[in-house]
Amino acid sequence: MEIDRRAFIASLGGVAAVNLMSDEAKADALEDFMTRQLNQSVAQTQTQTPAAAAPTFPTVADLETQIETRIRRRAVGNLFVAQTGNVKRLPAMSSAPTLIDFFRLRFNGTSNHCLQSANRAVKTGMAEEVVLACLLHDVVQEIIKTDHGWWGAQLFEPYIPEKATFAIRYHQALRFYADPANGYEYPDLYHRVFGKDYTPEPYIESTYQMVRKHKWYGEARLVTVNDLYAFDPNAQVSLDAFIDIIGRNFKQPKEGLGYDNSAVAHMWRTIERPDAPL
Ligand SMILES: [Fe+2]
Ligand SMILES: [Fe+2]
Repeated sequence: MEIDRRAFIASLGGVAAVNLMSDEAKADALEDFMTRQLNQSVAQTQTQTPAAAAPTFPTVADLETQIETRIRRRAVGNLFVAQTGNVKRLPAMSSAPTLIDFFRLRFNGTSNHCLQSANRAVKTGMAEEVVLACLLHDVVQEIIKTDHGWWGAQLFEPYIPEKATFAIRYHQALRFYADPANGYEYPDLYHRVFGKDYTPEPYIESTYQMVRKHKWYGEARLVTVNDLYAFDPNAQVSLDAFIDIIGRNFKQPKEGLGYDNSAVAHMWRTIERPDAPL
């Protein structure tokens, strides 16, 4: 199908808005756009009347209908599926890989978003645990997207302060609840990704209620504040600026991530070796 690039970008709110989106969100938006275009051209052929003009946000039911139009599920991790064409061979990692190695060699689909988020936390003078949480908050999406807050917190639990894992775990639930006093509005993008009539599942709602009263609510909320907003589309954030923060806060195992016999070692090995068949 031919894509009208200008119409697609316009449907997302223009170039600046597109630049703020993660690759994952762009891919989902493109998929939605193509589905709508296809539906419109079918409707046009059937009725011989011009297609409706402006695309609208999908409903939850629309997104459900799209499930069986895909060869993959929406929550598949970035490492396991190519955005275009075939997946590429991954560079080998050292025998004792560090967090920095993972950032450079495996977190390719998530690192730019996370670095920009952490950069914003630094620029606005946030605490080091918040900067660290922002830096790590979405990287687990390289293997899995469903419940990525919980998966992400688990991945880092043995290695970082509890306050940072708390913020990573619960940013997932908090992003569905506006908190204008702390600078967080419900993002328009979620109308597209989750459906315009989406309401969070009961476990998300009860998690939100619990976290809202927790002493570390602020830390988790700040991850959402740095998540989607105010990114400079031209910013090139280097990992170098965060090497010291990682050094101070990340307990790098000397055996290497994946080889320290921790309860999450297999998760790191999975990120390292996504082509291992079994
Ligand atoms: Fe996230
Ligand atoms: Fe994020």
